[in-house]
Amino acid sequence: MSSVATIKSNIIPPHLEVKGGCPLNGVLKVSGAKNSSLALMAASLLTKEKLLIKNVPQLTDIEVMSEILRNLGAKLTKTNNSIEINSESIHNVELPYQLVHSLRASFFCVGPLLTRLGEAKIPLPGGCNIGARPVDEHINGLKALGAEVEVINDVVKAQVSTKDKRLRGANITLKYPSVGATETILMASCLALGKTTISNPAREPEIQDLAKMLNSMGAKVFGAGTKRITILGVDSLSGTSHFVIPDRIEAGTFLIAAAITRSPLIIGPVIPNHLSAVISKLKECGCLISQHGEHHLKIIPREISGVDITTSPFPGFPTDLQAPFMSLMATAKGSSKIKERVFEKRMQHVLELNKMGACIYQENNTAYIKGVKELVGSNVEGGDLRSSAAIILACLSAKGNSIFTGLEHLDRGYEKLEEKLTNAGSIISRNFDQPTSQRSISNKIISEDNINTQKNAA
Ligand code: EPU
Repeated sequence: MSSVATIKSNIIPPHLEVKGGCPLNGVLKVSGAKNSSLALMAASLLTKEKLLIKNVPQLTDIEVMSEILRNLGAKLTKTNNSIEINSESIHNVELPYQLVHSLRASFFCVGPLLTRLGEAKIPLPGGCNIGARPVDEHINGLKALGAEVEVINDVVKAQVSTKDKRLRGANITLKYPSVGATETILMASCLALGKTTISNPAREPEIQDLAKMLNSMGAKVFGAGTKRITILGVDSLSGTSHFVIPDRIEAGTFLIAAAITRSPLIIGPVIPNHLSAVISKLKECGCLISQHGEHHLKIIPREISGVDITTSPFPGFPTDLQAPFMSLMATAKGSSKIKERVFEKRMQHVLELNKMGACIYQENNTAYIKGVKELVGSNVEGGDLRSSAAIILACLSAKGNSIFTGLEHLDRGYEKLEEKLTNAGSIISRNFDQPTSQRSISNKIISEDNINTQKNAA
C-alpha cells in the first residue's frame, strides 16, 4: 500500500484511519433519525406519564439531551435503542449554559417547560460552526401564544402569567419555515387553550414524526407536512410508545457513499419520499436507484457527471447533505455549482477537499467545482457534523490513505459509522491518543491483517 498521510506531531487526537479506494458492497443499515429523536425527547416533558421512544440512535447529541432532561428532573431508562422517559416530577425550569451550549436542540425544552411549569429560563444557544442560528422565530411564536418572553444577559426568560397558567391559541405565520421554531410552537400549542395555526411551517419529515407522536399522546395536530398546521389545544397529554422514522440524512449519506465509491449498495430502512430531492439529483448525475423490497433502496452508480444543487427547506435538497454531495461532485466528470441557502457558514469542507486534490472555488455561499479524476488521501479534519461525513466519503474514494480528525463532530450524528462501513467492505479503524513519531499510517494500521483481526474480534 502506498504511503500517503504522515503525522507530524507526537500525539494525534482520536481519529479514523481510512484506506481509500475500497469498493463497498452489501447492505448499509440506517438508524433512527437523530433530529426527530431530539424533538421527541423534549416532547416527553409535556406529559406526566411514561413515554417510550424506540429506534433512537446512540449518539453524543442524544446523550446530551438525556442529560438535559435529567437536569430538569425527568427519569430516563435506556435499553439499546429505546429510551423510556418519565417526566412526572420535573421541577427545574432553568437550563445551565454548558448543556445548552453543547446542544442547540436543548432550546426545544422551552415550550414544554412553559406548558408544564409555566416558566423557563434558557441561555441563548448562540451561533455555532455552521452559522449565527438566531431563535427569534421561536420567541415570536411563544409570544404570540401569550408567553411573556424577555432576553436578559443572553438568557431567555419566558413565563405564562394567565390565571390558569395556560398559553392561548394564536395564528402564527413564520417568516422562514424554521424546523426548530415549528417544533417549538407545535409543542407549546398542544396544551394551549383554543386553536393555533402555523402558516409557512417547516415541512420536514421530522415535523411529521413529532406531530404523529403528539397525536398518539392525545394531541390534535392536523396538516403536519403541509403549508399550514392546525393545532386544537387539549387539556392533557398521555404517555405513548413511538418508533422513530429512519434517518433520511444518514440514508442520503450512504447513497452518496455508494456513488462516490462507484459501488452498488442496498440501503435501508428508508422512507423513499423523504429522500426525493436527493434521489432525483443522484439519478441526474448518473446513478440507477430503485426500490428494493418495501423499505430499502438499491443504488447502482454509473459514470458520475457534474450537476448543480441549491439547498432549501424540505422538500428541497437538504442542507445537511450539501457537504456530502460536494465530495461526490469533486470526483464527477465535468463541472458543477453548489449553493448553500439555509445556513451562512456551511462550507468548511471546501478547504479539506481541496487538500485532497479537489478543485473547488468558493465565493460566499456558492462553490464552483471542477471534477478531478481522483482525490488523494490526506490528513483531514471535520469542522462540523456534516462536513465530517463529507470528508470521510472523500477519504473512502481517495487514492491512498487518510487520517480523519474531528470525531467529536461525527459522533454527534452518525451511529457506529465506521462499523457499518467496515461491514460493507471499507477499511477504517478508530484510534485513540497514541504516540506517533513521524509515522506513516500505511505502515501500521491499514494493513489487511489488522482489519481482519478487527472483523474477527467483532
Ligand atoms: N432561523 C432564524 N430564526 C429562527 C430560527 C431559524 O433566522 O428563529 C434561521 C437559521 O439561522 C437558519 C435557517 O433559519 O439559517 C434554518 O434554521 P432551522 O430553524 O430550520 O434549523 P434548526 O431547527 O436550527 C434543524 C436541524 C439541522 C438542520 C436544519 C435545517 C435539528 C436539531 N437540527 O436545525 O440539523 O440542518 O434543521 O434542516 O433538528 C444537523 O443535523 O447536522 C443539523 C444541523
